[in-house]
Amino acid sequence: MKGIIFDLDGVLVFTDKFHYQAWKYVADELGAPFDETLNNRLRGVSRMESLEIILSNAALRLSKAEKERVAEQKNNSYRKLLQTLTPQAIDRDTRKTLNLLRERGLKLAIGSSSKNAPLILEKTGLAEFFDAVSDGNNITHSKPDPEVFLKAAEFLGLEPYDCTVVEDAKAGIDAAKAGGFTAIGIDDAAGYTKCDQVINRLSELVDLIWGVNYEYKNDSFTA
Ligand code: BG6
Ligand code: MG
Repeated sequence: MKGIIFDLDGVLVFTDKFHYQAWKYVADELGAPFDETLNNRLRGVSRMESLEIILSNAALRLSKAEKERVAEQKNNSYRKLLQTLTPQAIDRDTRKTLNLLRERGLKLAIGSSSKNAPLILEKTGLAEFFDAVSDGNNITHSKPDPEVFLKAAEFLGLEPYDCTVVEDAKAGIDAAKAGGFTAIGIDDAAGYTKCDQVINRLSELVDLIWGVNYEYKNDSFTA
């Protein structure tokens, strides 16, 4: 393996809770039901497709202009929440793992459906860890289409079979498999049968890749 492509929301930073809050606000205004189960169906899918899922679940119909207004309203609330992000939003396990993977010569990329990925990377200081960023701004089809990951591999100069994708969304695991990548599931995707491997926290990647029993303790890895 030569490269790892990380989903961003819900894998490296817990902005999934901000997506939930922003959609909940919008759904309440529309009188549409919204809960964690429905929110999980929105993981990895684009903003407009997420709105379509909320509307169809509530059997609500809106005009194109209304949908655009609602999606913009959601994004404005979401971006307000993103302003609260700081480098402390990235936990130590994540930071240390990214450092170790880089030190060991792996190329790292972001593969996110979000158009807000650049803002999140900047606010959290995560940008410095990545050789390439593929996000909602450079794709025409969001997950489960493999485009975002295929672009990430291309930006790294690698083939899909040389790369592993780490995802918390079932749509993201489907996208990775459709693109010919190895797919590692975490959090909401961990129970998904299409995952090649499952991890409970990011530092478990180190064991999976090098097959050594690395342990992450007191801020460092030991074999
Ligand atoms: C993904 C999230 O990373 O980005 C989805 O998992 C979200 O929930 C999608 O809908 C698009 O995000 P944004 O920031 O462009 O609205
Ligand atoms: Mg995600």
